[in-house]
Amino acid sequence: MCGIIGIVGNAGVAPLLVDALKRLEYRGYDSAGVATLEGGVLTRRRAEGKLRNLEALLDKDPLAGRIGIGHTRWATHGAPTVTNAHPHQSGRVCVVHNGIIENYLELRAEAAAAGLFPVSDTDTEVVALMTDLALRGGLSPVDAVAAVLPRLKGAFSLVFLFEGEEDLLVGARQGSPLAVGHGDGEMFLGSDAIALSPFTDRITYLEEGDWVVLSRQGCVIRDRSNAQVQRPESRSAIGAAMIDKGNYRHFMAKEIHEQPEVIGHTLSRYLDLAARKAKVPDGMAVDFSGLTRLVMSACGTAYYAGLVGKYWFEKYARLPVEIDIASEFRYRELPVNPGEMALFISQSGETADTLASLRYCKAAGLTIGAVVNVPESTIAREADLVFPTIAGPEIGVASTKAFTCQLSVLASLAILAGRQRGVLTADQEAELVGALSEVPGLALKALALEARIEKLAPGLSRASDVLYLGRSTSYPLALEGALKLKELSYIHAEGYAAGELKHGPIALIDENLPVIVIAPHDAIYEKTVSNMQEVAARGGRILLITDEKGAEASGLADRDRILMPALSEIVAPIIYSIPIQLIAYHVAVFMGTDVDQPRNLAKSVTVE
Ligand code: F6R
Repeated sequence: MCGIIGIVGNAGVAPLLVDALKRLEYRGYDSAGVATLEGGVLTRRRAEGKLRNLEALLDKDPLAGRIGIGHTRWATHGAPTVTNAHPHQSGRVCVVHNGIIENYLELRAEAAAAGLFPVSDTDTEVVALMTDLALRGGLSPVDAVAAVLPRLKGAFSLVFLFEGEEDLLVGARQGSPLAVGHGDGEMFLGSDAIALSPFTDRITYLEEGDWVVLSRQGCVIRDRSNAQVQRPESRSAIGAAMIDKGNYRHFMAKEIHEQPEVIGHTLSRYLDLAARKAKVPDGMAVDFSGLTRLVMSACGTAYYAGLVGKYWFEKYARLPVEIDIASEFRYRELPVNPGEMALFISQSGETADTLASLRYCKAAGLTIGAVVNVPESTIAREADLVFPTIAGPEIGVASTKAFTCQLSVLASLAILAGRQRGVLTADQEAELVGALSEVPGLALKALALEARIEKLAPGLSRASDVLYLGRSTSYPLALEGALKLKELSYIHAEGYAAGELKHGPIALIDENLPVIVIAPHDAIYEKTVSNMQEVAARGGRILLITDEKGAEASGLADRDRILMPALSEIVAPIIYSIPIQLIAYHVAVFMGTDVDQPRNLAKSVTVE
């Protein structure tokens, strides 16, 4: 969603605000804007589209001032125009916002009745209008914010800047994250530690309902009841260099290539290689033994990781899994019972629907586990058991390394559950752990297929539709492959369980439809081959991703193939993710789309 930043600094802040927005652009890139106090007067620069447009504007028309706020927008209310771009101003106050103000129409009418009218179509502007109204009523800036915050319904993080107030920023958090950065004689507010990483590694995360008053000398945090509170200061491990493309053309390429390393880091927390056992990170305890059901929920790619996990928990631990996408789960009123555990998966740890599903299960009294990549995130903080992925910051909007790290954690937890539930013998556990320990090396081998995959991209880029097929754990990969292709290249793609083909989608097959079949040579390979033959018989263009044995047994020698290493069953979905990512990446690069920031998307979806 949107990214916000605020700085009370010691020198010109406009370049620093832009620098922070560059790191936040992954959260939204429909428009961007900054406001500073130039000689005490609120001054704004705003531009439609990518941040570079704002940079160009600032080059032509620079902005002075030692205090300021900035915003990069993912549009919710109102088109991505300059008028709708943040910061929004009314009178002596400017505001930037991430989230949604649900009661904005009601508040807008109230402001209008008092003679203050909006100029934009956004929900955000009403916050500026209401604060302006409070200022006009004689309240001080801090009191005005204190009066307005309880009136706002919805999920938001906000930063306020006031005319004539050279040493004051006010921030608030309810439902969307906001972090305070502590500098030396300067202070910062930002959507996440990534935004603040060039300035400071000393971070305080606000809790739900907190609001904060910032000056150069420090900050005062208050909770929802306005009581002053202390929130811990932590050291962020995110170095500015981690948010760099290095020698890669895109963040996505860098993140795909980081997988051997980050999967290795992740697995090292979950596997005891000496004992050949699965474990949880040091200091944690988890007990799957008496569970009657595992309830899982997530969105998008993280949901597909959960779907793979379902196969693993059911097979290796005989633990029944109920899984649904979070936007459905949260409103389904799923009956849950004591004796069940809930597990949520999220790279950002901020996805609104996943968080709401977590809160539903928490209110029902279940133990909450969360597989998250951002340890300070809301989901991590609200979970009872946090299973971290050690993927490092993921900046490309399309998730890659976070997905394979999620799979690595889920595979390890399924093995652990299998031991605790008396399903796996020590030998079976040792064999599975041994197989997983080879994943980093195997991921390197899969990456070596990149040149071959790049050559397939032009052919695929001519298609208007692509079908992905797979069975068992390759079925969620088919869904993931289709999602990656459509979000990056805008080619329509569908993922199907191979066995479901004949129940409808087979009608689509003709010589123009590429069909990507994900099929390691496993126990049900023959079944997938039958489905592939059905496609071949109708002239479908097959691209088969399999291993040597699979290629031999396919009976389709003349078809396009990507030849993978032979893999054990538990490892295959992790490694087969890599060619799937590379296909989507290279098709997008060939077509010239914006790989790291595909249209209409944002990295962290903090609205419903
Ligand atoms: C697709 C993608 C999204 C996310 C989804 C959930 O490439 O990245 O589908 O997986 O928005 O996000 P998190 O994992 O942050 O909850």
